[in-house]
Amino acid sequence: SRAISPDFTKCGPVDLPPNAITSPYCCPTLATPFKFIDFKDYIINATYKYKNNSSIRVRRAAHLVDDEFIAKLEKGIAIMKSLPNDDPRNFIQQAKVHCAYCNGGYPQKHPFQDQKIDVHRSWLFFPFHRFYIYFFERILGTLIGDPSFALPYWNWDSIQGMQIPSYFTTPNSSLYHKLRHYKHMPPHLVDLNYDILSPKIRTQDQQISYNLAFMYKQMVLANTKELFMGSPYRLGDPAQPGPGSVELAPHNTIHDWLGAVDTPNHEDMGTFYTAARDPIFYAHHSNVDRLWELWTKLEGGRRDYRDDPNWLDSKFFFYDENLNLVRVKVSIIVKRPRKLRSKEEKEQEEEVLVI
Ligand code: C2O
Repeated sequence: SRAISPDFTKCGPVDLPPNAITSPYCCPTLATPFKFIDFKDYIINATYKYKNNSSIRVRRAAHLVDDEFIAKLEKGIAIMKSLPNDDPRNFIQQAKVHCAYCNGGYPQKHPFQDQKIDVHRSWLFFPFHRFYIYFFERILGTLIGDPSFALPYWNWDSIQGMQIPSYFTTPNSSLYHKLRHYKHMPPHLVDLNYDILSPKIRTQDQQISYNLAFMYKQMVLANTKELFMGSPYRLGDPAQPGPGSVELAPHNTIHDWLGAVDTPNHEDMGTFYTAARDPIFYAHHSNVDRLWELWTKLEGGRRDYRDDPNWLDSKFFFYDENLNLVRVKVSIIVKRPRKLRSKEEKEQEEEVLVI
């Protein structure tokens, strides 16, 4: 198989941008001897174990949640920040997961160790981030004693959501982050196609219509898997073969829009090695994840790479809420255990098999 898989035990120093404000060691702590669980076995155990009290996590729009929800989110992030530095559930450790997968921490498998893995600008973008926030969400939910807890999605594609949800900007909150663009605090509206080198001045109304039209372009007009999901990226290939529409913008542009103006690389959100140190990262990516789901259901149907064995077999490793190292592969998102699938999913699968 020519599927990408990191050589997880060979994590090494990452490539940092010039004038990086911190030089983190982004590799995870490994248990010796090295061991991991395959997600397939893992989820079967979990389903069995929690059969009687399993709950489906439902993510909600960040601007529509109540105070109780905000308090839980704040508490979860605060606990993660307070855990020992080397605990994989620690907030900065979680941010380092992103750093290692994005700044060349992992070599590809033998015999391609000279190629470093990067989960951006290719067909790995959507699945990697889906897994990443999934495990983050499990950890957070467990730490606050609510396994049904789900991340909010920062709904910047809807008019009400086109600004930073205000509870991320309250000083003293665990959700507050200092390194952000000071001019972009609420109620300032986000420019979904923000150009960091020449920011545009628009009235509120102009910005809203611009954003809505831009979403149409990135979602609806991106009507092939290559356009929407990014280019194929297989074992031995150089990193970053080509990004999909939404990854480029609004995903990257919002990262740029949020990062501080006076840091060399617009840390933290504006550059990969620090982006996930800002708690809003996870709400941003919940929305990106939601857009992937919406895209596959657009009128007429949209086909992702689910018929490509190399995409399906691409693998990643993550720590879960019990400090188990779990190996996941893309196919488990696409074809879930039959028992867990809805009628609609089964029909869709049959459709795929027929074609
Ligand atoms: Cu891995 Cu929003 O970037």
